[in-house]
Formats: sequence, C-alpha cells, structure tokens
Amino acid sequence: MTIIVTGGAGFIGSNFVFHMLKKYPDYRIICLDKLTYAGNLSTLKSVMDNPNFRFVKADICDREAVYKLFEEEHPDIVVNFAAESHVDRSIEDPGIFLQTNIIGTATMMDACRKYGIKRYHQVSTDEVYGDLPLDRPDLLFTEETPIHTSSPYSSSKAGADLLVMAYYRTYGLPCTISRCSNNYGPYHFPEKLIPLMIANALNDKPLPVYGEGKNVRDWLYVEDHCKAIDLIIHKGRVGEVYNIGGHNEMANIDIVKLICKELGKPESLITYVKDRKGHDMRYAIDPTKIHNELGWLPETKFADGIKKTIKWYLENREWWEEIVSGEYQNYYEKMYGNR
Ligand code: NAD
Ligand code: DAU
Repeated sequence: MTIIVTGGAGFIGSNFVFHMLKKYPDYRIICLDKLTYAGNLSTLKSVMDNPNFRFVKADICDREAVYKLFEEEHPDIVVNFAAESHVDRSIEDPGIFLQTNIIGTATMMDACRKYGIKRYHQVSTDEVYGDLPLDRPDLLFTEETPIHTSSPYSSSKAGADLLVMAYYRTYGLPCTISRCSNNYGPYHFPEKLIPLMIANALNDKPLPVYGEGKNVRDWLYVEDHCKAIDLIIHKGRVGEVYNIGGHNEMANIDIVKLICKELGKPESLITYVKDRKGHDMRYAIDPTKIHNELGWLPETKFADGIKKTIKWYLENREWWEEIVSGEYQNYYEKMYGNR
C-alpha cells in the first residue's frame, strides 16, 4: 500500500506519518509538503532514513509536481492534511487560505481522478459547523449540522469539503471526510493556544488570553486523531463524513491556568488581550457515528495528555526554541505587540 500524506511536515500530518510507519511496516508513506512556515523538516528527522518513507517538497497547488509524483508512486490512498491552519493568520490575510485549502484540495483530487485511487481522504475541521452557545451544553455538532462558518480559515475548509462531496457525486471519486476538534500534543506549532502558552510560560512571558477566556474547545490528543483517520481510510464508507472529538470541552482560561499549575508558574502571567474578530464561542463534537461504525473512541484523558505534552515541550526545547527565535518573532510582534 502506498499512501501520500500531504502536510506531513506539520503538526498532525507528522504524527500521522509516525503512526502509519510504526503500525504498517509494509506500507510506503510519501510526505508531500511545501514546507511553509508551519512545516519543519526537523520534525521528520527520525523517519528520513526509513526506506518506507519518502519526503517530497512541493505545493499541493502545483499541478505539474503533483501529477509527476502520482506517475512515480502510483498511490493507493491520499490523505490531505496540507492546509493553512491558523485562524488568526486567515483574519490578517485570507488569500493564501483560499489558494492552498481550496485550489490545493481540487488539484490533489484532480490527480486522483486522472491516475485512479482507492481512497481520497480530506482532513477537515469542526470549525465548518460554526459555533455553539455556552448556555446550551446539550447541543453538539453532528455530521448533519449545517455548515455555517465564521472565519476565512473555516470558510476555506468548508469550501474544500463541498468540493470533495462534489467530486464524489460528479466523478464517483472514492472520498471520505473527517471533521475533528482541536488537537494537542507533540510538534504543535507554538502559534496555537496550548504550545504558545507552554512556550511563553517557560520563558516567563505574558500569556495572552483573548477576550474573557470563556471560549470552549473540545481538546483531543493528536495520536487519537491519527488512529481515527487510520480507521476511516481502511474501513470508513466512501462518500461519508465522520466527526472526531475528544468528549473534552474546556474553557481557554482553564487550560491556561492548568498549564501554569503544571509548570509551577504564577497565574499573574495571564494577560487578557483584545478578542479575536468573529471569535467562535464553543465547539463540541458528537462522535457517535465513528464510534458506532468503526469502534473509535478517544483513549487519552486530557489530564494525562497535557502532562505528556508539557513533558515533550520540556524535553524538545530546541525544536520550538528555533521556531520562536526566527521569523516567528515578527509574527508575534505584529499579532500581539499592541493587543
Ligand atoms: P499545520 O499548520 O501544523 O501544518 C500544515 C502543513 O501543511 C505544514 O507542514 C505546511 O508546510 C503544509 N502546507 C501548507 N500549505 C501547503 C501547500 N500549499 N502545499 C503543501 N504543503 C502545504 O496544520 P495542522 O494543525 O497539522 O493541521 C493539519 C490539517 O488538519 C489541516 O488541514 C487542518 O485544517 C486540519 N485540522 C487541524 C486541527 C488542529 O487542531 N490543529 C483540528 C482539525 C482539523
Ligand atoms: O477546532 C479545530 C481547529 O482548532 C482547527 O481547524 C484549526 O486548524 C486549529 O488551529 C484550531 O483552531 P482554534 O482557533 O480553535 O485554535 P487556537 O489554538 O488558535 O485557539 C484556541 C482558542 O484559544 C481560541 O478560542 C482562541 C484562543 N486563543 C488562541 C491564541 C493563539 C487565545 O486566547 N490566545 C492565543 O494567543
């Protein structure tokens, strides 16, 4: 079996590459990644010499490069993680989100149509469902919840999802889509809430909480997400959407306080800053479908997952210190300088 994993030098994609190489020693895993600011080759250094692994630097929007790779590798499955993934960046500059997330998805699917494929899997997000109110804990996102996006990022992901379903219906492309809640774990880029708070706390820097910190996210340990995608590409039904969530809703402020406690840092580092524009209040996934059909359940309790994650950031300082010392500084200044 040959699988192309796009975006495999990023957070979830790299964890998926590790999971697949370990679990399926007879599979060939090809990582196709443009290495944007979010993609780090150092993340993949432990697998670079694995004979079952190949890294290809290319843009998923580059039709010629993508077709060439299909001609060389004849993939059976494509798992499309490649995306611009940060909501705040999409608010600053939506263009690249439309390009990579929509045009890139179409380009990958065109290659699948042209060369044939057993499965195209689109890694999507719960953000396509918009948000839920805080005072209705009974409401959860199901696969039938209407698409209702808030940010340029979520709109671009929703556009991609609609295209995937169109390619399934129009061309019979064997597709599946998964919509997952917020992931956390190793190799999470330190612009996102959990790694940003860990890195800042370790450097005794302010911890910038947007608005009142009451927004709720449904946190899932990244390995559990990888296991869910593994199940879907092997056993999921084509043309179907599967929600993936952690049964683990937490308010941002509680996460930040927990990180302070785990690191022995004072809560006085917490600084309330200007809210994100269009900030979604609450995400909460109902993962009943994937549980009933494929037997998937989140395995990692947040209390354990956050300890493992913090330990990883403590033991892998060089990975994130290199990131926060480079171009990231300009981003940080621009985004947080005058909040
Ligand atoms: P990430 O930003 O950490 O990684 C994205 C990767 O894609 C990087 O390696 C980057 O170099 C690569 N990439 C970007 N543009 C590319 C292009 N044009 N061509 C080829 N490669 C390109 O993202 P992530 O957090 O790992 O998210 C992966 C996927 O999962 C995304 O599709 C995202 O929408 C989705 N998702 C993320 C989460 C989450 O909590 N992080 C939750 C649900 C869904
Ligand atoms: O729900 C899935 C989505 O989760 C994925 O589709 C996205 O790719 C991923 O980035 C993530 O989006 P969020 O916007 O939820 O994640 P982020 O880590 O940016 O923010 C989480 C919450 O924390 C959100 O309510 C905003 C808040 N926040 C974030 C940052 C970066 C802060 O309060 N301060 C911060 O500095």
